[in-house]
Amino acid sequence: RVEPLVLGIETSCDETGIGIVRGRTLLSNTIASSMDEHARYGGVVPEVAARAHLEALQPAIERAVAEAGIRLADLDAVAVTSGPGLAGALMVGVGAAKALAVSLGKPLYAVNHLVGHIAADILTADSEPLEYPTVALLVSGGHTSLLLGRDLTTDVELLGETVDDAAGEAFDKVARILGLPYPGGPQIDRAAQGGDPTAIRFPRGLSRASDREKHRWDFSFSGLKTAVARWIEQREAAGEEIPLADVAVSFREAVVDVLVSKALDACAAHGVPRLLLGGGVIANRRLREVALERAAAQGVTVRIPPLSLCTDNGAMIAGLAAELIASGRPASTLAFGADSTLPV
Ligand code: KG4
Ligand code: ZN
Repeated sequence: RVEPLVLGIETSCDETGIGIVRGRTLLSNTIASSMDEHARYGGVVPEVAARAHLEALQPAIERAVAEAGIRLADLDAVAVTSGPGLAGALMVGVGAAKALAVSLGKPLYAVNHLVGHIAADILTADSEPLEYPTVALLVSGGHTSLLLGRDLTTDVELLGETVDDAAGEAFDKVARILGLPYPGGPQIDRAAQGGDPTAIRFPRGLSRASDREKHRWDFSFSGLKTAVARWIEQREAAGEEIPLADVAVSFREAVVDVLVSKALDACAAHGVPRLLLGGGVIANRRLREVALERAAAQGVTVRIPPLSLCTDNGAMIAGLAAELIASGRPASTLAFGADSTLPV
C-alpha cells in the first residue's frame, strides 16, 4: 500500500492541531490550545478561537515539521478539517491549508472532523488496526455523536448526536453552576471524590420509551443542567447546605450512564461487537470504567486511543487523508469552504 506523507490541519474548535503522518505512522502531533483564553468566559468563544488559530498556525506548522524531521517540500498532500465545527475557526484552517497546498503544488484533502476522530485509532501504534464495522462514541466540548463506521473511507453513518449541549459543555456549565472554574470536566471529577453517586437521581436525557422512535441515539444535556441548577436552588432556598461531592458525582453518573447506555444499545441493535471512544471527555476515568465494564458484560470490545489522539488534533486529520489517498480517493478541488454543519 502507498504510505503518503501528509500534514493535517485541525481548527474546528479551540485547538490548533498540526499533525504529520506517513501512512499509518505518526510522525508529529502538535497542539496549541486557546483554552486558557476561554477560561474567563466559562466556555469557548468563537471569535477568540478564530483569532487564536490565526496566531498559532504558523508556529505550530513549523514545530510539527521540525518534530517530524521532514521538509514541507517532501509532503505528498495537505489535509484539513472542513467541518463540522465553529465556522470562523474552521475558515482559518481551511484558508491556511489552501495556501499551503497551492504554494507547495500539492493535493489538498478536505476531511470531516468526526470521521477524523475515528481515524485516530489507526495511528495508535501499539495495537492492531480497528476492525469494521464499529460503533464510535465521540464526546467533547464541541460535539457528542454516535456513529456507525462500516468502512472508514467510504461508509460512516451518523446514528445520533446531541440536540442541545455537548457532553463536555454540560460538564463546563454544571461546573459553573457549582462555582468551579473552566474547563469543568476535571473540576467535577475532583469535586466528585467521596460523593455518593446514588444520592440524587438526575435525569437521563432522551431516554424515555417515547424517545426511542425519534431520538433513540440522540443525546440531550440541557435538561440535566437545568435539573442540577433547580436542585441547588431549592436546597439554598430552604437554607440547606449543598453537598457538593454528592451533586458532582450524581451529575457525572447521569452523563456517563446515558452515554454508555446509548452507545452499547447501538452496538446491540446493529450487531456490532466493537466500540471506539474519542473526544476530550474520554479523559473522564469514570466514563472509561463504566464503558469497559458494561461493554465486557455485553461481549463488546472497547478501543480508546491515547488521550493526545482523542482530543482534537491534526494527526487524525492527516491519518484520515492518508487512508483516503491509499484508497484512491481524488483530492478536493479548491472550491470547498468551511462547513460548520458538514455531514459525515
Ligand atoms: O476534545 P476537547 O479537548 O476539545 C474541545 O471540545 O474543544 O474536549 C474538551 C472538553 C471540555 O468540555 C472539558 O470539560 C471536557 O472535555 N473534559 C472532561 C474531562 N476532561 C476534559 N469532561 C469530563 N471529565 C473529564 N475528566
Ligand atoms: Zn472533536
